Amino acid sequence: MKVATIALLPGDGIGPEVTAAASSVLKAVEDRFGHAFDLRTYAVGGAALDAGYPPLPTETLEGCLGADGIFLGAVGHPKFDGKAPEERPEAAILKLRRELEAFANLRPARVWPGLENGGSLKPEVVKGVDILVVRELTGGLYYGQPRGVAEDGQSAFNTMRYSVEEIERIATVAFESARLRGKRVTSVDKANVLETSRLWRKVVTDAGKRYPDIELSHEYVDACALLIASKPDRYDVILTENLFGDILSDESGAIVGSLGLLPSASVGGKVGLFEPVHGSAPDIANENKANPIGAIGSVAMLLRHSLKLDVEATAVEQAIGDTLAAGYRTVDLVPMDNKPPVGSKAMTTAIIEQFHAAA
Ligand code: NAD
Ligand code: IPM
Ligand code: MN
Repeated sequence: MKVATIALLPGDGIGPEVTAAASSVLKAVEDRFGHAFDLRTYAVGGAALDAGYPPLPTETLEGCLGADGIFLGAVGHPKFDGKAPEERPEAAILKLRRELEAFANLRPARVWPGLENGGSLKPEVVKGVDILVVRELTGGLYYGQPRGVAEDGQSAFNTMRYSVEEIERIATVAFESARLRGKRVTSVDKANVLETSRLWRKVVTDAGKRYPDIELSHEYVDACALLIASKPDRYDVILTENLFGDILSDESGAIVGSLGLLPSASVGGKVGLFEPVHGSAPDIANENKANPIGAIGSVAMLLRHSLKLDVEATAVEQAIGDTLAAGYRTVDLVPMDNKPPVGSKAMTTAIIEQFHAAA
């Protein structure tokens, strides 16, 4: 029996809906395997700002630092557009990642059996696609100094900066991950233009010498964006910096059928942070339409990476696969045999039923 404290940060838009799904699945895992999870909910993002707190309240950060794992739904709302960076909901995620030192963002994208015809590509092109984007998460343009807007408001600037140490440690995560998968790493950069990318390529190449069993190749990010959308099965692990990884991981969502399917884990720091790759989707919030699979997949990653409950994690992933194989589809997914779509709650219930049925 595992006793663990899990911090839940629902946030904004569809965040609370997918967090409810994540929380129900954690309770199902407790029931089936006899664990005791203490689920503690904290305010974050626009919800915290609306209540008069900063985007990442002190109590939330302390709760996260004291937890064994953190689940975050999503933050963000257009009503905060135009606010100063520190008064935007997104500041919560950026601060949390940095405070946790969670530098390694793992974003798997795979085609679930039965969903081959569900993405933007032909079924024969996507069949068997199984990509892991390893995104550097606490450096690059997101955090580099100086940044700001010139006094006259006529220009603005950000700084992309990477140290050898930052590149080395994320490269190590990518090579170690590849060892457990297809043994191939594609490092993605813009070394034909950027100094940071030239350093990136050199450090990754040097790190690769410690992994002679892993096939390493390098690609420019523009070419990679094209090739993911035309020949996605050529990738195993994609190793890349913060902004490129943000963009390429959303693109991989389109290929496997929906952004709503993608989970993520941010590890390497004090406590693991788990969030679906998607945002707060204000266009479908409070309509019971959000696909909960990215959130539930993130719960599986939390179980595996932070709680070391591998059997439980695999059982959750199996339940997602079984539910999709049974024909359940939220509206963002291509229907099976013209069956009508189900809502977010019905999809979650079906996954939990499959999870218990397999016990
Ligand atoms: P988004 O990911 O919220 O939505 C993009 C599109 O995907 C929308 O059409 C949306 O309806 C759809 N979508 C997203 N998640 C879905 C799901 N689970 N099921 C079905 N459809 C889904 O991106 P956006 O619209 O560019 O951003 C909205 C807000 O979210 C912004 O404020 C942005 O900053 C924020 N954001 C937050 C996170 C996060 O909290 N981790 C991530 C990305 C964006
Ligand atoms: C993501 C999001 C975040 C990012 C934003 C909301 C700060 O897009 O997790 O992919 O850019 O990292
Ligand atoms: Mn993103």
